Amino acid sequence: MDTLTLSNGKKMPCMVMSTNYMDYPLMKKVVTAGLKCGFRAFDTARDYGNEDVVGRVISECMRELHIPREEIFITTKIGNSQQALGNIEQQIEISLKNLRTEYVDLWLMHWPYPDHYVDTYKKMEKVYRTGKARAIGMANYRLRHFERLFGAGIEVTPHCVQYECHPMRTADEILSFCRSKDIAVQAYSPICRMIPEIRDNSLLKEIADKYHKTVAQVILRWHIQRGTVPVFKSVKPERLEENIDIFDFELTDDDVRAVSSLDQDYKYHLESASCPGY
Ligand SMILES: NC(=O)c1ccc[n+]([C@@H]2O[C@H](COP(=O)([O-])OP(=O)(O)OC[C@H]3O[C@@H](n4cnc5c(N)ncnc54)[C@H](OP(=O)(O)O)[C@@H]3O)[C@@H](O)[C@H]2O)c1
Repeated sequence: MDTLTLSNGKKMPCMVMSTNYMDYPLMKKVVTAGLKCGFRAFDTARDYGNEDVVGRVISECMRELHIPREEIFITTKIGNSQQALGNIEQQIEISLKNLRTEYVDLWLMHWPYPDHYVDTYKKMEKVYRTGKARAIGMANYRLRHFERLFGAGIEVTPHCVQYECHPMRTADEILSFCRSKDIAVQAYSPICRMIPEIRDNSLLKEIADKYHKTVAQVILRWHIQRGTVPVFKSVKPERLEENIDIFDFELTDDDVRAVSSLDQDYKYHLESASCPGY
């Protein structure tokens, strides 16, 4: 698995597998299959309700497949209800206990929770300095949230930002902003759940046929070439193999532009009810 280097020198795999809404037997099957075909990065969040299952599964898989912790990259997130409590330094301890690890590789603020997100970030900076989070960042920020945060005198530039990004939502403004600040980007819902508008799109099908690849592979490859790290979900081992099989071809610049031309600022996921106006 190729890696990207974050602004603090830490390496992040260029593709991430999701673990959300899976119970233990399913996650064990999916994570085992993913590790066997080469994935090393996993996405979770406190609000997914199964952080402890992620911890159990990853620690078991590392032992059974003889993979050291340093090779694994774990992202988790602090949710709004935990932000509201204000005890951010204690929240990382809960995540570490759930995840059975001494550090997380990336700790994201899940949402720019109004009236809390600046304070939360400043406390996350303190946690970063302890080494319990090797990198920090946020998800679901708009430019105005970044402006407010940077205007509030933060000391640690976020290392990574996660947001919904796929051909129907290229979010170029946020990407340009992140590039200008040397902030890495994780793209969630990277294949837009393969909704019919994506799955049956004639342009995507044409490009896929040209390279003898699937539409999902073309989109994942498009992410790699734009430098956005896809955070995808699949519970099917055969699809994990399909999704990682994207390093033996390269889209032309014209193909990259053609895929990007599908942008219509379409968002699959609704805004968080506790972040009005997001
Ligand atoms: N930070 C946030 O607020 C936030 C919000 C939303 C999502 N996320 C993260 O991003 C992850 C992925 O997002 P997502 O699940 O919304 O979208 P996604 O990864 O774009 O789509 C997942 C869907 O695509 C299918 N799929 C996967 N590979 C496929 C392939 N090669 N061909 C056809 N279908 C394929 C999966 O079905 P099968 O399982 O049947 O293969 C699943 O139904 C989440 O699980 C979560 O970890 C974060």
